[in-house]
Amino acid sequence: MADTMQNYVELQGINKHFGSFQASDNISFTIEKGKLVALLGPSGSGKTTILRMIAGLETPDSGNIVIDGQVVNEIPASRRGIGFVFQNYALFRYMTVYDNIAMGLKVKKIPKAQIKERVDSLLELVSLKGMENRYPNQLSGGQRQRVAFARALAPNPQLLLLDEPFAAIDAKVRQELRSWLKEMIGKLGITSIFVTHDQDEAIEVADEIILTNQGHIEQIGTPEEIYRNPQTAFTASFFGQNAELPDYHDFRSFAELDHVDRVLIRPEFVKVYKQDEKIQYERTASEGIVESVSFRGDRTELRIRVNDAVLAAKRNPGEPAIRAGEAVKVFLYRIFVTRGNEVIPLENLALQTDMVVF
Ligand SMILES: Nc1ncnc2c1ncn2[C@@H]1O[C@H](COP(=O)(O)OP(=O)(O)O)[C@@H](O)[C@H]1O
Ligand SMILES: [Mg+2]
Repeated sequence: MADTMQNYVELQGINKHFGSFQASDNISFTIEKGKLVALLGPSGSGKTTILRMIAGLETPDSGNIVIDGQVVNEIPASRRGIGFVFQNYALFRYMTVYDNIAMGLKVKKIPKAQIKERVDSLLELVSLKGMENRYPNQLSGGQRQRVAFARALAPNPQLLLLDEPFAAIDAKVRQELRSWLKEMIGKLGITSIFVTHDQDEAIEVADEIILTNQGHIEQIGTPEEIYRNPQTAFTASFFGQNAELPDYHDFRSFAELDHVDRVLIRPEFVKVYKQDEKIQYERTASEGIVESVSFRGDRTELRIRVNDAVLAAKRNPGEPAIRAGEAVKVFLYRIFVTRGNEVIPLENLALQTDMVVF
């Protein structure tokens, strides 16, 4: 299987300094042709720098950038066959939608009739037909971003780079645009890399995630792999809506570890029961008090105190209601323990043996 897959982009040991600051620290990864990959990480972790080096807008200090089997280090941005969608759209304010999309084609001195044909088909593709004579300020944020997308696609690039493409758009439209972009890129089959600091966005949109932190790569994998099996302490704390447990000994029944830095628990691994609810692992549950209850439509979110720990948990609409102030039973399926840069997942022993241990 592996040798039939074609790598379209490869970074080999890329380093980049700004003065004494190392923005890229030995960055290596490969991206298969046609994949949609997220460069994910906190602000300042070096994502944009990587994207700009691939585009040719920034030069690495060392290492190679390979696109379609060719080292492109010395090839200028304009000849790398790359489309770029910037964070702030960067549409030309005094140009119509049509002229914005046509811009890159006019620069290439392509005949007018051919430009018109291409722009018309792109307008159709991004569902903006009839809006070609509008100016950017006469469009919604989502529409502007679709123009930026069409403009980047106009010269028919083989690689599309998008830097925080949804950042400036309000939540509801952002949600729609994410699905739209994923579908569009899938349909076009164009290899794409998008930068985001939003874990949910990366999980939802990307085929694969490259997680960056302080200029280096923490982990690479599918959203599922990286979410389920974090390989570093950073990855474990970056993904999921973790609560931190001051002392996991408040909870039965987990293996004893002699040295522990942090204990992380995700809401999906917390099960909450009312006092009179039947529970399988009764004797391994802890006593908690519900601090708050927030109705979220499709679910209810609870905050529960167990000694010094405050946990987040979810409750489905079908389950009996739990109220603030109520005493409840709390069972943890799984926790993540970090030790230095290492992360150790601990399964509740009651589950492993399928019997009550204590
Ligand atoms: N041209 C530059 N000159 C100096 N420092 C820069 C430059 N570009 C980026 N940096 C620094 O490099 C670090 C990573 O920046 P960036 O790649 O933009 O991160 P991200 O996109 O993950 O937020 C930041 O600390 C930023 O201040
Ligand atoms: Mg950035």
